[in-house]
Amino acid sequence: MNSRGVLISLEGPDGAGKTTQIELLADNAVKGGFRTLRTREPGGTPLGDDVRAILLNPCYQEMTPLTEVFLYAAARAQLFEQVVEPALRQGFLVLCDRFIDSSLAYQSYGGNVSFDFVLQVNLAAIKRRLPDHTFILDLPPEKGLNRRPCAHADRVEQKPLTFHSSVRAGFLALAERFPERITVIDATLPKEEVCSQIWQVVLPLLARC
Ligand code: TYD
Repeated sequence: MNSRGVLISLEGPDGAGKTTQIELLADNAVKGGFRTLRTREPGGTPLGDDVRAILLNPCYQEMTPLTEVFLYAAARAQLFEQVVEPALRQGFLVLCDRFIDSSLAYQSYGGNVSFDFVLQVNLAAIKRRLPDHTFILDLPPEKGLNRRPCAHADRVEQKPLTFHSSVRAGFLALAERFPERITVIDATLPKEEVCSQIWQVVLPLLARC
């Protein structure tokens, strides 16, 4: 287990504004003098980016939920060992745009793969190093999907609204299951307010960086 560095993940349905929040958080952290690294999933390594292209390719409509579990976990294992773990060892603040909880929400709650199976595969992928804190940016799925232009919807975004509703319910269930690690934030609030709520929780953790 790494005693140095701080690992924070931002999670939530498609279009919740995670990427904007990671940018704002990274700005705050850099201004505060903290060495900061941003990652995004799936991807974040050359190998992971190739896996991402397969996962999001709308041509692969036949992809099964179990195949998704392994592909997301494979990209995550590569990202963890190649990027996240070394940065934590050096005492960085690592900000992850999606992490293990996306697999639990999308592949287990959304895709009906066994929760314990998805959890175990992913704990192995991240060497059991869970985030120090996770924020779920919550909003109704129809709002999130409306923030994206339809013509550019990837394979996951093209799934029916019922799937995205199960994913949202999954994220909220995860927050109830792991209340000490996960905070739910209302993603319909102004982006500055969302950032300030996240920063209030992150700042005290940064003593370790
Ligand atoms: P992306 O364009 O990065 O979406 P977003 O900007 O909303 O993060 O595409 C990633 C998609 O993959 C997104 O729809 C969520 C899905 N996903 C999973 O189903 N499982 C996972 O473990 C991860 C990391 C993402």
